[in-house]
Amino acid sequence: MAGFDDPAFYGDRWAPVYDDHHARMDPGSAVEFLAGLAGEGPVLELAIGTGRVALPLAARGIRVGGVDASAAMVERLRAKPGGDLIPVTIGDMAEVPVSGRFRLVYLVFNTLFGLLSQARQAECFGSVARVLDPGGMFVVECFIPDLARFDRGQRVQAVAVTEDSAIIEVSRHDAAGQRVTAQIITLDEQGVHLRPVGLRYSWPGELDLMADRAGLRLQERYGDWHRQPFASASTGHVSVYQRA
Ligand SMILES: C[S@@+](CC[C@H](N)C(=O)[O-])C[C@H]1O[C@@H](n2cnc3c(N)ncnc32)[C@H](O)[C@@H]1O
Repeated sequence: MAGFDDPAFYGDRWAPVYDDHHARMDPGSAVEFLAGLAGEGPVLELAIGTGRVALPLAARGIRVGGVDASAAMVERLRAKPGGDLIPVTIGDMAEVPVSGRFRLVYLVFNTLFGLLSQARQAECFGSVARVLDPGGMFVVECFIPDLARFDRGQRVQAVAVTEDSAIIEVSRHDAAGQRVTAQIITLDEQGVHLRPVGLRYSWPGELDLMADRAGLRLQERYGDWHRQPFASASTGHVSVYQRA
């Protein structure tokens, strides 16, 4: 597999800059929410990345493990305090290649959409159901597709501009495939840096059907990690599915 179809592609391309790019994202409310469902664990984060959420969760004494396709991202996690104590399997989150059972599995920051087809996303729900304890929870955080962002299938956005750099996001929308292909482009004194993102979005109801087919039932859905009601104006959702 090559390019976007390679599960390691995103992480390998983003690992050197991932933490800097996302430094302003506070994981606090997600950690609070997940800790409330985790009990004593064990807990599994799919696409654990550099440990943005897993590390503060583990710091609360919860047993957290992870799966990620990118060894480069996991290397960043390992280099952080406590990072070497979190067991991580390098592999494809659609397959959830771990043994054992979990009280809670979670997949945050729209990363389910990194699986680029409906079939791959549905496979992920099925694999999660296989490793959940009876009554265990699967928590998913995703954005609500906003197709008005695109003008005739494309969008160019100035994300940040400073005295000596600019970050531009260039994206194309494939409505039939529910896919967005983007480059986050940094221009600075060192040159042009391309950071690719490929995603296949799903609507909440579509996710609920995938979950249902896997034996997982929607228990709760919120507009954010603070449990704001999910409503028409919500730009994202936090959904809690439970295994029967
Ligand atoms: C946007 S980052 C999210 C990392 C972390 N969960 C966070 O919230 O900061 C996406 C992560 O998903 C991983 N990833 C992408 N596709 C994957 C796949 N098919 N299987 C496992 N990990 C994958 C990437 O390597 C990367 O670490």
